[in-house]
Amino acid sequence: MIEFPGYEAIISRVYENHQEHVFQYWDELDDSEKKLLLDDLAEIDFTLLNRLYTEKESAAPSDFEPAPYIGIPMTDEERREWDRARSAGVELARAGRVAAFVVAGGQGSRLGYEGPKGKFPIGPVSGKTLFQIHAEKIMKYARKYGASIPFLIMTSRANHAETEAYFRENRWFGLAQADVIIFPQNMIPSLDTHGKLMLETKHSVFKNPDGHGGSLTALHTSGALTEMKKRGVEIISYFQVDNPLVRIIDPVFIGFHALKGADASSKAVRKAYPEEKVGVFVRFARGAIGVVEYSDLPEEKTRSVDAKGNLRYSSGSVAIHIFRRKFIERIADGKEISLPFHTARKKIRTLAEGAEREVDGLKFEKFVFDALPLTDKNIVFETLREAEFAPVKNASGLDSVESAQRMMIEQHMGWLRGRGIRMPAKARVVEISPLVAVEAEDLDPGLAITDEEKVYIDENAARSVPPGHPPQ
Ligand code: UTP
Repeated sequence: MIEFPGYEAIISRVYENHQEHVFQYWDELDDSEKKLLLDDLAEIDFTLLNRLYTEKESAAPSDFEPAPYIGIPMTDEERREWDRARSAGVELARAGRVAAFVVAGGQGSRLGYEGPKGKFPIGPVSGKTLFQIHAEKIMKYARKYGASIPFLIMTSRANHAETEAYFRENRWFGLAQADVIIFPQNMIPSLDTHGKLMLETKHSVFKNPDGHGGSLTALHTSGALTEMKKRGVEIISYFQVDNPLVRIIDPVFIGFHALKGADASSKAVRKAYPEEKVGVFVRFARGAIGVVEYSDLPEEKTRSVDAKGNLRYSSGSVAIHIFRRKFIERIADGKEISLPFHTARKKIRTLAEGAEREVDGLKFEKFVFDALPLTDKNIVFETLREAEFAPVKNASGLDSVESAQRMMIEQHMGWLRGRGIRMPAKARVVEISPLVAVEAEDLDPGLAITDEEKVYIDENAARSVPPGHPPQ
């Protein structure tokens, strides 16, 4: 057994759990590296890992029906209800009761981009990054509502320092530094298929971020939740870093959430086709509304249609939620929120027998939607995919950089058309700065657009043309 003063208990725990191979490079490490390795090991909950390795994942739930949802308004009464919700949402935003929360701790492995995914340049003309677009949207909302909107950013061990540095170098994209709160999520070791820990370097264990479900714990343990309480924030608007179309502060959504007294609210889009790989909203037998992963939805339910021929399980989750601060506080309750871990088999690059190699491994992650059934009340709110969901998951093809940019261009051109703004003949690629507009209504109908193939409408370009003077 190796020895290191002050670390006897940790060292014995590693041996008791038959993980002593993590010390295979011990003799090559200097004292500071030895300490790093031991500190890394000290954070590991071996009981949890043993349980996750030996325990079979509980069977997916099967007793559920499609979840009810608030649909796109069709009737005058529904439109009036929307207007009431909008007013309530606007009031909450104006009163500074709302914070924006992006989860950006993922590894973005499908995109294959080195560095935090939020630094990925996505603006089709501007090349602005995901982070910049989100930050500028928040700035615009804050200006519209005349209130501060804190921007909470969850990172992970792998990208925390780079994310912080990026915001600092860019002077928080014009937001007040105090309003940008960046904190890392927890990490959990991955295991190989024999239940063994793996090394990332000679003095660190391979760990992965604990999933977007780790965000609720991280909000609590980082102190961000306490800070939100101090600032009088009641509503936390949750979104994913890789969705440049997201309506970060949506007064109608916020308003419904508040008027219905919900602990959590979620946006849904109609599934494009039955086998689409999105989780669907369901109501479990106990009455709670949650999400069932597409892979857990039985074939007959995937295809099941109602009397009118419409897909029954059609509300796809787009990972946009609102959480009541008090709900997160309630379930956090000073200790780890007990969301279950899900196991995924993934290839993992690890250090073994003196060389870097790729091995089959088990990654454990929590999913944020597992918190939904813990609410006393939650609602699902239908929205249009083209209005707010353009995930950047892959470099090309489905849910890619290309598809997201196309959707951004279509949205912005649609806003211009909707405001009766003339599109010059040459314009093919149009992008509007979030500082100019986060929705069509923000655009000045007198806006003049330069006749170029690529048009970027920023605050300088968004000047008004006096009436009677056609745009050049
Ligand atoms: P994804 O599940 O799409 O994962 O995350 P990813 O890491 O971005 O990409 P792949 O699967 O490796 O290709 C959805 C959202 O959840 C965040 C991501 O940053 C993204 O915004 N996330 C995911 C976290 O914040 N932490 C995690 O542990 C996992």
